[in-house]
Amino acid sequence: MSNHLINLADLDRDAIRELLHLTDRFVEVSQRPIPKVPALRGRTVALIFFEDSTRTRMSFDLAAKRLSADVIDFPTHTSSLSKGESLKDTVETIQALGVNALVIRHAVDGLPGEIAEAVGETISVINAGDGLNAHPTQGLLDAYTLCQHFHGSAGTEASLDGIHVGIVGDIQHSRVARSDFAAYRSLGAKVTLVAPPDLQPTDLENWPVEITDDLDSVLPSLDVVGLLRIQKERMGEAVVSSVDDYVERYGITESRAKEMRDDVVIVHPGPVNRGIEIADSVLDERANVLVNQQVTNGVAVRMAVLFRLLGSGIEID
Ligand code: CP
Repeated sequence: MSNHLINLADLDRDAIRELLHLTDRFVEVSQRPIPKVPALRGRTVALIFFEDSTRTRMSFDLAAKRLSADVIDFPTHTSSLSKGESLKDTVETIQALGVNALVIRHAVDGLPGEIAEAVGETISVINAGDGLNAHPTQGLLDAYTLCQHFHGSAGTEASLDGIHVGIVGDIQHSRVARSDFAAYRSLGAKVTLVAPPDLQPTDLENWPVEITDDLDSVLPSLDVVGLLRIQKERMGEAVVSSVDDYVERYGITESRAKEMRDDVVIVHPGPVNRGIEIADSVLDERANVLVNQQVTNGVAVRMAVLFRLLGSGIEID
């Protein structure tokens, strides 16, 4: 693994397993009365979010602080970018300040990878979501949450062998779908894509699995329903012509939930469009809806990533 995390598709199964096993350690740390270790004392992490975020931003912030790193929350709207300074010059300025890691979210596909190439080994770049392309820490935390649910923890050989996951919804516009797909497949899960024809990926050669527009036909065989957010902000035009129709065909409504096996797991990266991807009552009351557990695990996963990329040999204890 390089000193950057840009796309899970770049990581082999061993590298993913290593990060998930490290996450086990940080889940334990997170459960301590004082969930903080000195492992990254003296390191500095900059959070640079050009798109809105609640979970990813806060959990990277918390993860870095729980590792005793210093954190700079870079203000994209009030920085000298607004005076015309280029992103390249901004990154060079951040480098010159002695920052050790950039955690970057941007609407442009591939931008974190371009920055990583530009900075080389001098600083770690972590992709916190780029356009439609990738959201690697979300893929890791979703895979970790499933390993934890089915096996108690990731262990040294994290596996989703024998688990059938349906990724349901707006696959075309979802970087989460791309990173979840990479993580789940790497760990041996069977994956089926479920989406309306207009929201199916156009690069089908990169998704060598079954794809259907009929959720009800595949639902009885699924162990995990991985819901995706309808991403109104990324749709150039209204491709979901009728929200009611979408809910009827793809939403986990009360009536559809009643038809599902009790042990079926539901995950969603958030933020949830309540009443669209999933009914309020199902989200709030059904067992095995792991949305909050995903958020909790996001901190430990991001601690693992920061520790793996920035650790200087100080033990976790
Ligand atoms: N899942 C996710 O990326 O959420 P945020 O946009 O709130 O970070």
